[in-house]
Amino acid sequence: MKKFLIAGNWKMNKTESEAAELVEALKAKNITNPEQVCVCVPFTDLRTVKKALEGTGIGLGAQNCHFEESGAFTGEISIPMLKEIGIDYCIIGHSERREYFNETDLTVNKKLKALLQAGITPILCVGESLEIREQGTEQTFVAGQVIADFEGIGPADAAKIVIAYEPIWAIGTGKTATPDQAEEMCAFIRGVLSGIYDNATGDAMIIQYGGSMKAANAKELLEKSDINGGLIGGASLKADDFAAIAGAAAELS
Ligand code: PGA
Repeated sequence: MKKFLIAGNWKMNKTESEAAELVEALKAKNITNPEQVCVCVPFTDLRTVKKALEGTGIGLGAQNCHFEESGAFTGEISIPMLKEIGIDYCIIGHSERREYFNETDLTVNKKLKALLQAGITPILCVGESLEIREQGTEQTFVAGQVIADFEGIGPADAAKIVIAYEPIWAIGTGKTATPDQAEEMCAFIRGVLSGIYDNATGDAMIIQYGGSMKAANAKELLEKSDINGGLIGGASLKADDFAAIAGAAAELS
């Protein structure tokens, strides 16, 4: 059966009280496939959301971490800190972090290794800019990201990583990649992973699409054979929309 993970990326939205309200609204939607759903929230919301999600089966994630366990890294959050809260997932290498916070494939790789060691599932983001897409070199670019980000990670660990293909030109722009464009790149990424590891590893991986996914386009994206879910920004801030996207995955399961 096809695997799905519908992950909400709240980005820098929702104070603690607003987060509690959103989770209550989401719980009221009675999502039928909570094991296929998680929300990745700001650090300051993690404890509140963890408590609010108790007993629902919906997963919890952070949006970044540091790769060192502790030390003089003012303003950073370590994996042991996140582990103690009890998170399941952590987004790594989102294009906004790569663009605005100097995240590189090298730091992404270190973070992936540290998360895997801690038993937290990374959601690794890759994807090309509009400029690269217009040059027609998007596959070379994304393959380069995947190869660098997975450097030194063995097959058993690699299979635990969730990949989110997010074309930067589709994030928050309302411009979704067509289902065919999204499928083409997700299948291509799976092929790259099968090449690095083997077909069984490539086939087992969860590869999401992200970029303006919403209730209205979720089904046509999720029914593509190589798309195992979505990383959802804007639409994850509305309980109705997010629950509808989860519902589309439930129908296809
Ligand atoms: P969007 O964001 O759904 O608002 O386009 C997706 C993301 O950046 O993860």
